[in-house]
Amino acid sequence: MSSGNKETASKTAKSATHAPGGEASTTHFGFKTVEEGEKASLVRGVFNSVADRYDIMNDVMSAGVHRVWKNSLIDSLNPRAGMHLLDVAGGTGDIAFRFLDASDGGEVTVCDINAEMLRVGRVRAAEKGYAGRAEFVCGDAQKLPFESRSKDAYTIAFGIRNVTRVEEALAEAYRVLKPGAKFFCLEFSPQVVPVLQQAYDTYSFNLIPKMGEVITGDADSYQYLVESIRRFPSPPRFADMIKDAGFGRVTWRTMSAGVVAIHSGTRL
Ligand SMILES: C[S@@+](CC[C@H](N)C(=O)[O-])C[C@H]1O[C@@H](n2cnc3c(N)ncnc32)[C@H](O)[C@@H]1O
Repeated sequence: MSSGNKETASKTAKSATHAPGGEASTTHFGFKTVEEGEKASLVRGVFNSVADRYDIMNDVMSAGVHRVWKNSLIDSLNPRAGMHLLDVAGGTGDIAFRFLDASDGGEVTVCDINAEMLRVGRVRAAEKGYAGRAEFVCGDAQKLPFESRSKDAYTIAFGIRNVTRVEEALAEAYRVLKPGAKFFCLEFSPQVVPVLQQAYDTYSFNLIPKMGEVITGDADSYQYLVESIRRFPSPPRFADMIKDAGFGRVTWRTMSAGVVAIHSGTRL
């Protein structure tokens, strides 16, 4: 068993620890404990480093399966004509472009904390002829620069795991959605079906950082990726967090033997 797996059970904790007596609060950055205020810049460093090779790395490390997961997210969303989607932590636009492909006259706002990822996304939007239907906004999932009750739907794919205070991101998702609008989250899950766990851990901890080194020149960012997945709550626990944020009709389903889960909820 890898050292990563040994750490799994004890470390899927709340997104941040609030210290009494005015001491700095801590949180996790992969398996490291860092001050809460440090995490956003560490995460920014990860995506600054890999932005230009981010999309190709996704194809390589998932053998293209991330496309199936993302298409399933869009199928669940079931875009209606003229819908305005907010895709948070939208990075280089992968969810946004799938949404625009599937929607009749829809529009999308991609919001991400990282200007480099958005830069790549804007170039891709122009290449796909979607520049007029996609806007790219730099902003934090925990403090969205949008009006309350203004969005028809909210998606976040492989993003919420990177946020310092997940509860705040969920509260913001609730705030910006119109009543009756839906929230969707596609995220890695910390555990796969038991029979595959060891092989999955071996692949994650031994191969993914090496692939990151070869493809992006950055093993550490992909070490962070695999560690951060082990720190994220299990699907039932994350469903409870979505309920705690106020959402109704919360559901989730896993795909690929539990590698990822899609959660959804309705803004009441
Ligand atoms: C793994 S990428 C996912 C990109 C895209 N959603 C996809 O599925 O390809 C994670 C993204 O989350 C963004 N991110 C991390 N923390 C964030 C925050 N607090 N607010 C908004 N975006 C954030 C990163 O900059 C990065 O672009």
